[in-house]
Amino acid sequence: MSAETTSQSPQDLLVMDLSMGAEDWTPTPHGQCLAEVLAENNLVEGKTVLELGAGTGNHTILLARQGAKHIVATEITQELVETTEVNVKRNVPEASMEYRVADWLATDGSFDVVVTNPPFCKSGKQNRRYYIDSLILDAHKRLNANGTLIFVQSSMADLAKTLERLNENGYEARAIGERRGPFRDYYFEDEQFMKESASVVGGFDVVEGVHYETLSVIAATLRDYTPPAGAHIPDELRA
Ligand SMILES: C[S@@+](CC[C@H](N)C(=O)[O-])C[C@H]1O[C@@H](n2cnc3c(N)ncnc32)[C@H](O)[C@@H]1O
Repeated sequence: MSAETTSQSPQDLLVMDLSMGAEDWTPTPHGQCLAEVLAENNLVEGKTVLELGAGTGNHTILLARQGAKHIVATEITQELVETTEVNVKRNVPEASMEYRVADWLATDGSFDVVVTNPPFCKSGKQNRRYYIDSLILDAHKRLNANGTLIFVQSSMADLAKTLERLNENGYEARAIGERRGPFRDYYFEDEQFMKESASVVGGFDVVEGVHYETLSVIAATLRDYTPPAGAHIPDELRA
């Protein structure tokens, strides 16, 4: 059974009781931005949702309260997804949920909506945008026709590049909300990150010695597409 749709205000939707351990990802301004923008825009009522890297469940709970029909929440380890589960069960016990250990998009099923706050600064990949680019290239495999991909990213990850790549890969994409805020302290500790960010046009700005990034929540909806006859796709694999 899905959670009852509430008429709670965006502020009320964000009030939740979260517990977490030392290994869990403590919500940051990125997560807060995504939560606030999701709360202001109900994009999930009556829809099936795949949430990648659900962490403390800070977005999972909100999506359930907004009346998502069914949510699959993933994390990279069993311990991490147990934190999601404990928090969701405490805050929205009636939610229709499944919890999975999965490496990013390597999971089954197709959904109306895919939501995530992807690793970026600390992605640990040579291409720091790896998780963002992976979404752009492969989230369509987890989306139903005309499904929507929703994620948050920093201006330091190059918003123009993201919107261009989404367009190239068959999405109508737009930023549905933005928040501007000062750098986290750990940004300055990663010289390579600072160097990469300085090469992004509009990556950040500095006012009176304070560095600011802009966080954007992007909603991208798959356009209709039929591969042309003769494309190298076996008939049985054509969706
Ligand atoms: C930026 S944090 C976001 C956490 C939470 N959704 C939030 O916004 O506070 C990214 C999350 O993705 C998880 N993660 C990292 N690599 C992953 C992978 N390959 N597959 C699934 N989740 C992953 C991390 O454990 C972490 O919880």
